[in-house]
Amino acid sequence: MSNLFRTKPVQTEDAKSDLKRTLNGFDLTMLGVGAIIGAGIFVLTGKTAATAAGPAIILSFIIAGIACACAALSYAEMASSVGGAGSAYGYGYATLGELPAWTICWMLICEYTVAVAAVSVGWSGYFNDFLISIFGSGLPDYLRHGPLDPLKPGLINLPAAAIIAVLGLLLLRGAKTSARFNATIVAIKLAAILLFIAVAMFHVNPANWLPFIPPKEVVPGVSKFAWDMPLLDAISLAAGGGEGAARFGIVGIFVGASTIFFAYLGFDAVSTSAEETVNPQRNLPIGILASLLLCTGLYILVSGLLTGIVSYTELNVDAPVSYALLKIGQTWAAGIISIGAVAGLTTVMLVMFYGQTRVLMAVSRDGLLPGFLSKVDPVSGSPRQAIFITGAVMIALGGFVPLKQLGELANIGTLGAFVVVCIGVMVMRRNQPNLKRPFKVPLYPFVPLLGAVACGFLTMYLAVFTWAAFAAWMLVGVAIYFLYSRHHSKLAAA
Ligand code: ALA
Repeated sequence: MSNLFRTKPVQTEDAKSDLKRTLNGFDLTMLGVGAIIGAGIFVLTGKTAATAAGPAIILSFIIAGIACACAALSYAEMASSVGGAGSAYGYGYATLGELPAWTICWMLICEYTVAVAAVSVGWSGYFNDFLISIFGSGLPDYLRHGPLDPLKPGLINLPAAAIIAVLGLLLLRGAKTSARFNATIVAIKLAAILLFIAVAMFHVNPANWLPFIPPKEVVPGVSKFAWDMPLLDAISLAAGGGEGAARFGIVGIFVGASTIFFAYLGFDAVSTSAEETVNPQRNLPIGILASLLLCTGLYILVSGLLTGIVSYTELNVDAPVSYALLKIGQTWAAGIISIGAVAGLTTVMLVMFYGQTRVLMAVSRDGLLPGFLSKVDPVSGSPRQAIFITGAVMIALGGFVPLKQLGELANIGTLGAFVVVCIGVMVMRRNQPNLKRPFKVPLYPFVPLLGAVACGFLTMYLAVFTWAAFAAWMLVGVAIYFLYSRHHSKLAAA
């Protein structure tokens, strides 16, 4: 039993890493913004306002933002004191032990792989609209849908597979090249968001904000058990209470927060660049906190303005931000927003793909996954095999599987990892009080405690099928640990 909880000593310097240190605080902040702003704000905001929270979506963003801020502060302390490309996996290994660390790694794989695949499917939709607007027609349906799509089974989702392949090729060229490409595209998407804010500001009709919290209603047709009802509703139904899945009202704000949590995913990917960062003890906290702060501010403004210029009831569409601009007659601005959205989705995939390869590398170096995953190309300084394997899995998911509902699966994986990082900070403070901590969580222990509770609470509002899929995923992970990782662990050998 004690073997399962053996901890890896904290390495005070990452000198052994083969990766090149090329990234600075600005690069990291841009990487963070690159990973954060994407499908969440450009797609999910409208649907969530229309079906769960109404204009109070702004409160959903604030609640999810507070949970993320606590997690981000905890990440910053861990990244500055423990460090390493494995991010939360490495922090878990140093504090909670090998098996918990492996489960965190498995949650991170869930977050990054599923998020990239899901966003690639969204990207494919926007790309096809772009083809239609230029050439008058898009790709045939059989090249836009995978064989498992229940509505329109086809051959392959070609654009989704192709964009992942292109991003993989870019990552092969190394972190600095990828970071430069990222910064350019981030500038485009920030410009698009600022344009939206500037235009929308002058078209707000305050009547659209009323009722601010629409009255609670029971979702018609799902008064009994349904796989897509929040876990909390299912529990109260099983306990003999509750009325089935509800929307709007106070509950709707929390359901909304657990859904649009997806919009914040990504700031944690910054911490996977620990071994490619100059002066990581200082620059990692800057990158994590600055990117989250900037995006939270933008999200609150955008969601407030979006529900102020059109009624939330109209926002259940795939591209709510450009739709709202079209509604107020700003056709030109709507076109520019679409370009910004495509750009936004591209960098989300790039940074999460990057984060995934770095985590795999760190886990493989510890022996818990096969060694070839941590081989680094001496010229570009990038882990080639990890990029190939990760890319192939993401292409298989994005190209062949319809991943719409699986956005929630990425949320639950991330929330799980956040809970563990917040707890890890507290365990570490107790077990290793003298460890050098260049960045310390303020208001300790309130902040990590609130982070763990808030993130755990948000998972309760995720759907029952998300929980079921997550449980199945974690079981596979635990099986791999007992069949392979445990016997190949370098710590065990040592
Ligand atoms: N935060 C990322 C997005 O919204 C995952 O697309």
